[in-house]
Amino acid sequence: MKGILLAGGRGSRLHPITVGVSKQLLPIYNKPMVYYPLSVLMLAGIRDVLIICSPHSMEGMRTLLGDGSHLGMNITYALQEEPRGIADAYRIGADHVAGESSALVLGDNIFHGSGFQDLLARTVENLDGCTLFGYPVTDPERYGVANVDAAGRLIGVEEKPRSPQSSNAITGLYFYDPDVVEIARDLAPSARGELEITDVNQRYVDEGRADLVELGRGFAWLDAGTYSSLLEAGHFVRTLANRQGVHVACLEEIALRLGYITAEECHRMGSEMRHSDYGEYLVQVALSLADTPTGAQS
Ligand code: TTP
Repeated sequence: MKGILLAGGRGSRLHPITVGVSKQLLPIYNKPMVYYPLSVLMLAGIRDVLIICSPHSMEGMRTLLGDGSHLGMNITYALQEEPRGIADAYRIGADHVAGESSALVLGDNIFHGSGFQDLLARTVENLDGCTLFGYPVTDPERYGVANVDAAGRLIGVEEKPRSPQSSNAITGLYFYDPDVVEIARDLAPSARGELEITDVNQRYVDEGRADLVELGRGFAWLDAGTYSSLLEAGHFVRTLANRQGVHVACLEEIALRLGYITAEECHRMGSEMRHSDYGEYLVQVALSLADTPTGAQS
């Protein structure tokens, strides 16, 4: 399975913050925003990831993540000159997907919840058509919304409806079979001039091949696209780190636990930034997992 991380866009709701730096490189407490969606792809077991950047974000993103080999990943990059819509990811990423199934994650989405890795594993294993993730929100009119029947089956998706029929927002994480490339190729721009991922999803719904997984109250889903949500996301991550010692989206730790890198490699990366609490945490994780064969057990 291939991964696509969409990290272009204008970030206009965050102006002037995003005039000089791209949204996905802004900090969410102790790490850049892009770490969070990348961690989701890693937790889904995906090692081959295309990051789609705006001209504005390409250089910083490459400096930050390189070819991904330090994480045991293979990261490549592609340019989206203009924000033509989320479904454009599958026009730009057609060669990357190369006839395989794939996951697409938006560069400003943060997921956290117990059992997430297992949920992702089940999603990858059972994928038949597309799988979307629903999350109850108080302002569904800001999102793509999932409409379900009495039996909980997905019967329609609507982009930013004026009168939403449910409070179930569709999150920025999507799993698709290989047909998605063809569907995206045939798409016409919407009234607002974008290639809508909602239109892609509706195609799968029409074909009876769309599954909705509802993320319950044990999960947190945040998008960090506004001043308040950016700040809230940072507080959320800090609270978990300080209160429970849980570090959300620590990429090196995930790579170590998945057996992609060794404890020595994790230790070295931590030592290189030991002046930061993040670096110190990596050193501690490396030491605590040094004796397990891959680190994957804990
Ligand atoms: P949005 O939040 O819809 O758009 P944006 O990031 O440009 O922000 P704003 O609305 O404030 O101008 O995008 C969600 C994510 O998808 C975000 O990570 C940017 C990314 N994206 C692209 O990379 N290309 C696109 O064409 C679009 C529409 C979004």
